Amino acid sequence: MSDDYEEKIRQEAEYWGRMSQTERTLRPGWFNNPDLYHLLGKEMLEHIALACRPGGRGLDLCCGIGAYAERMAHENMQVDAYDICEERIEQARQRARERGLANCINYQVVDLNHARLPQNYYDSVLSHDAIHHIANLDHLLEQVAGSLKEEAVFVVHEVIGTSQKGREIADRLLACLPEAFRIVRHQEEFSRVVGNRKSPFEEVSSKVLVDSIYRHFEVVSEKTMFAFAPQVFVLQYNWDLSNPQTRALATLIVELDRWLVKNKILRGSSVAILARKPRPQASPQEPPRRREQEPREIEKYREETEYYRQELERVTSSTAYRFGTFFSKKIAWLKRLLR
Ligand SMILES: C[S@@+](CC[C@H](N)C(=O)[O-])C[C@H]1O[C@@H](n2cnc3c(N)ncnc32)[C@H](O)[C@@H]1O
Repeated sequence: MSDDYEEKIRQEAEYWGRMSQTERTLRPGWFNNPDLYHLLGKEMLEHIALACRPGGRGLDLCCGIGAYAERMAHENMQVDAYDICEERIEQARQRARERGLANCINYQVVDLNHARLPQNYYDSVLSHDAIHHIANLDHLLEQVAGSLKEEAVFVVHEVIGTSQKGREIADRLLACLPEAFRIVRHQEEFSRVVGNRKSPFEEVSSKVLVDSIYRHFEVVSEKTMFAFAPQVFVLQYNWDLSNPQTRALATLIVELDRWLVKNKILRGSSVAILARKPRPQASPQEPPRRREQEPREIEKYREETEYYRQELERVTSSTAYRFGTFFSKKIAWLKRLLR
């Protein structure tokens, strides 16, 4: 391993350690707001649940503080959970003790760029927002494929990047939300703790990870999700979904997001893949090719866009939300963005 790599991976672990101090307090993501998490994350959580194999052995890659390893352990699984960041692993161990799961989860500090995994051992391996940080991806995927039992599953939910159009929609929506929804509380404190440094491996494999998974596994299903909504909800403090009007607005944004992805008008920013160990082939064959997603024309969806226009108008014209005329200017802006 080069000195350069050693230094970068040290910075990576340090970065995630600093993030740990802030995520829940100074700048919590939408996933720390339980109501939003269940509203926006519904499909994602259903996908992750595929990694739960009651009574089996599981592996959680880049486990962070262990939220998903705990889910598997709750399903009576024996789980190995690895992460590069010592602080996070310590936090995860503490959580497991508090939840009575310490005997079910084996947390270890491991660099997954270089890890060796046991052969034919796991019933499921989970990667949630994980392997897009792994630079040595082919090595890790080879190890994961070898570690799966015959009928085991590899469950992946990963960031592949928000499309330009998705970002534009999020920006437009954020710009027209009342200020309270946009304020970054504690920004100064957050910057002080986290500093300006980014994770050196952020999205290092995002662009190649789907193709790499197709090369190393038999893919059972693949879909994308989250066209733009996580970027709108990223500052989740004021999304109090016990307020019915706020819930109505949040629900509409989530529905619009799902509709855009479902109709392949926009690609999602995350990919959800269910894969298996590749089966031995009788004769050598070409590896399966990725299905290309055909972009579609927004114009073909006049009826649905009209529905969203009316709903946005209805929800936002309530006294609590005076968004000016933005939403009532038909959805010309949306059509323009999607062209
Ligand atoms: C976005 S967080 C996701 C954590 C967790 N999977 C979750 O969804 O809550 C990414 C995690 O990857 C870990 N990580 C980054 N590079 C790693 C590596 N080379 N080996 C192991 N873990 C790594 C980080 O420490 C961090 O906890």
